[in-house]
Amino acid sequence: MPDPELADLDSVLAELTLEEKASLTLGSAFWHTAPVERVGIEAIMVSDGPHGLRAQLEEADHLGLSSSVPATCFPTASALGSSWNPNLFNEVGQALAREARACGVSVVLGPGINMKRSPLCGRNFEYVAEDPWLAGELATPMVQGLQSLGIGTSLKHYAANNQESDRLRVSAEVDERTLREIYLPAFERVVTQAQPWTVMCAYNKVNGTYASEHHWLLTEVLRDEWGFEGLVMSDWGAVHDRVAALAAGLDLEMPPNHAISRDAVVDAIREGRLDEAALDTAVRRVLRLVGQARPARAEGGEFDVEEHHRLAHRAALESAVLLKNEGSVLPLAPASGSTVAVIGEFARTPRFQGAGSSQVNPTRVDVLLDELTTRLGSDVTVRFAPGFALESVDTDSGLQEEAVAAARDADHVLVCLGLPGSAESEGFDRTSMDLPANQLALLDALAAVHDRLIVVLANGSAVTLSTWEHRAAAVLECWLSGQAAGGAAADLLLGRANPSGKLAESLPLRLADCAASLNFPGDSGVVRYGEGLFIGYRNYDKAELEVSHPFGFGLSYTTFALADLDVRVGGTVAGGDLAVSVAVSVTNTGSVAGAEVVQVYVRDVETTVARPVRELKAFTKVWLEPGETQRATVSLDERSFAFWSIVHHRWVVEAGEFELGVGTSSRDLPLAETVTLDAPSIAAPVGRDSTLHEWLADEQGRRLLLELDAPLLADDHLVSVIGTMPMTTLAAFGMGLDYPTLDRLTSQLSPN
Ligand code: GLC
Repeated sequence: MPDPELADLDSVLAELTLEEKASLTLGSAFWHTAPVERVGIEAIMVSDGPHGLRAQLEEADHLGLSSSVPATCFPTASALGSSWNPNLFNEVGQALAREARACGVSVVLGPGINMKRSPLCGRNFEYVAEDPWLAGELATPMVQGLQSLGIGTSLKHYAANNQESDRLRVSAEVDERTLREIYLPAFERVVTQAQPWTVMCAYNKVNGTYASEHHWLLTEVLRDEWGFEGLVMSDWGAVHDRVAALAAGLDLEMPPNHAISRDAVVDAIREGRLDEAALDTAVRRVLRLVGQARPARAEGGEFDVEEHHRLAHRAALESAVLLKNEGSVLPLAPASGSTVAVIGEFARTPRFQGAGSSQVNPTRVDVLLDELTTRLGSDVTVRFAPGFALESVDTDSGLQEEAVAAARDADHVLVCLGLPGSAESEGFDRTSMDLPANQLALLDALAAVHDRLIVVLANGSAVTLSTWEHRAAAVLECWLSGQAAGGAAADLLLGRANPSGKLAESLPLRLADCAASLNFPGDSGVVRYGEGLFIGYRNYDKAELEVSHPFGFGLSYTTFALADLDVRVGGTVAGGDLAVSVAVSVTNTGSVAGAEVVQVYVRDVETTVARPVRELKAFTKVWLEPGETQRATVSLDERSFAFWSIVHHRWVVEAGEFELGVGTSSRDLPLAETVTLDAPSIAAPVGRDSTLHEWLADEQGRRLLLELDAPLLADDHLVSVIGTMPMTTLAAFGMGLDYPTLDRLTSQLSPN
């Protein structure tokens, strides 16, 4: 989009008074930036949310409590993330932009890309994945799609906002490497690949400092390192000190803490506590945003409600993950005269999105029971029984008996289970991964009378399956897949569409297997990310834990085969042009068309630091007709092999072997190839405080010590015993080494 020239901004800036400039760095109202009519600056409107527009033209709240303009409710992020389809994210982004333009909204507050540190986070339904590469690769095209139509985005919530408990105050205590390798990379990917118009800072503190005042996050990393050019806005109510926030790089406080913040900024500048240049920088970014928004505001637009619903339907089809299909009970093909029992209140009262700021007022809602009944026609009997009350966990014996009676002699039984809206939402976290007790009791009762139960799930984040999955012949995880969820589920169940979703979050056997559970949600204002890098599959793989279903897993109504893996290494790490291509042939070996997701995981075979067993570094989704074969090719670069060094404070590749695992889930990698990469040494510079082992591992250090011929190298056993001792300690012990000698040797080391 044409940005107003910086010169224009400077000329406008020069006309503004100090008070006007300060007012521009606050919203003018809940959903609007501030205008300065005197110099022709208009206010622009921002609105949630990540999977549908929540434009409030009258009331205003940031919790989805009051009404909003009807809009298409697409699958929420955890559902759409299960599609593993970047193009679909781009299409949904464009649709969101069309709806925003029709409403006069200039920035859509999404996508949400926080990592799923624990399955209990109440907002996991709004986040894409437990893996930063997948989240970044899917959110980037959504931002590109939205912005291609002149509507901005707000990448959120930056950073380490991985729980709802105490979210406005808690300090996420995250070590440097974990931040860099787990909680920042998705933001880095989207910022560097798509330049979102805005980034939204999180509520929480990061290592003791509010994200809204975090200069390292907002300026040193986001701008200086990643080259972010846009505007940083606060989450709603995340600013505690407007002056400190401005100094840190927070450009726009939302909603405005009116007179207090404006006067605080004016006073701070007048009293010399804040450099006016910092204010001018923020004002320039606000003016630039207003300028970016102008073309779409001027052109406006409209959208085709039915076309967007069809897109929502297609997105819901790709979001569903087929977790189990024993004896190919799915797809259903009810014979004429047969009976289909549809059990579970969710079939009649669909749960298709989560509560809170992202909650959309949908243009329509497809109800699974109605969609199935329509599709099955009059010669199939559909029997419905609610089986349980949604907002209760207690078994209603009457409802349960009615459901059992409906299922007993039915030819097919669908059991629609999931998490009620009261179980997960913005604003609070779950305390359990389990489905409600009354649903589990119902499933037990149904399993006693029918041996081919088909469970259809509607939930925003992982639920425990290990306690009941054996009672079901099939399980279709639909997540919260938007207003078209009911129609899409009906098409998938009846085979009019073939499931192609893959898990974007692991399904552990039990919550206790999740290492983050040891520190979730923290206490006393602090949550320690003690599990470090090991969240999601990184956790379960490293701990060698069985899971119900692994990250990347998903079945189809057809089958696929991978063959002919070909890995080619080009360039070098040292040359900064490492490029590794990975090609594999994918064949649809079944009888129906379908899609498979080829996934490439990298394992650092020889490493001097703790690393995950394997990490997703590339993927591609392939659609194939029966019998068709396609050659899928993906590429890896230096970052695919790197880890963040807390010695060098940068990304490094450690020379040695790396195994590339290629397959269709993080635990189904039938093809593998090992590559050996050369790379500059990443050893810490050797010096007087280095250990004897570090001196011996260093070419110069080793040579100098061998020339010294000191007793401390007398025999290998001795070296193994004292090898981890710093040279300064050894010099104190004597053994042929004293401080003057150590200093002389150290002075002979040339800096590497
Ligand atoms: C909420 C959410 C944020 C949302 C904003 C505006 O509290 O944290 O995601 O965009 O406020 O509603």
